[in-house]
Amino acid sequence: MESAEYHSALAALAWQIELGADECIADAPVNRYAVPASAPRAARPKTPDTPQAVAPATAMPAGPDPVAVARDAAAAAQDLDGLRAALAAFDHCELKRGARNLVFSDGQPGARVMIVGEAPGRDEDMQGKPFVGRAGQLLDKMLAAINLRRHDSVYITNVLPWRPPQNRDPKPEEVAMMQPFLNRHIELANPDVLVIAGNHSCQALLGKRGITRLRGDWTEAQGKPALPMFHPAYLLRNPAAKREAWADLLSLQARLRDG
Ligand code: URA
Repeated sequence: MESAEYHSALAALAWQIELGADECIADAPVNRYAVPASAPRAARPKTPDTPQAVAPATAMPAGPDPVAVARDAAAAAQDLDGLRAALAAFDHCELKRGARNLVFSDGQPGARVMIVGEAPGRDEDMQGKPFVGRAGQLLDKMLAAINLRRHDSVYITNVLPWRPPQNRDPKPEEVAMMQPFLNRHIELANPDVLVIAGNHSCQALLGKRGITRLRGDWTEAQGKPALPMFHPAYLLRNPAAKREAWADLLSLQARLRDG
């Protein structure tokens, strides 16, 4: 077996083990990658989780409107380095004061796939890179299972570039303030498709949440085809949901192959 083939097969196997497959149930292997795109999707769990409208951002304090400042700063950035510098110079978000590092992006700028997560956690704050903790390691395994790698085939960022204290949920006004930077980030990175990981990212990019319902259905965000998926941190807490995540990964793979 060619070395690349060997590593792809190994990555696919690692993901199957991650899914909980720990024994063979048939004599001959089934190539699940070859399942036609029109095959019925895995059943969704029945939950009361319905897409909801986004709550309006709370009132901003007096002074320059931080959202307008963010909009101007983001619009002025001509490339990703310029955008990183504009974010580093943006002083209106309280989160910046409590964070060790700006977490801008990781992966390959210009990659066909751009993943948008929610906000840095402790490990990301320490290293200044998104998705480097346990959730990030799972994300890498998920990507490897469909032959994508962080260093050459995906580009990764978050809605918020600074860690919220104690990993609390992003506040609507923080998301509103960072949104112009995120929108410009997508514009400058110009991926073919977006993967929107988790509820807060769906709220920022789609204006709605309810990931259990939204996941797996291709939609559009910032003029790009976009696939909402469960957040890897959610998958760590709810391993049974990896089944749906696998269906979504196959859908992403098919889209990249066919589009
Ligand atoms: N969760 C996220 O949404 N982003 C990260 O970078 C890490 C964990």
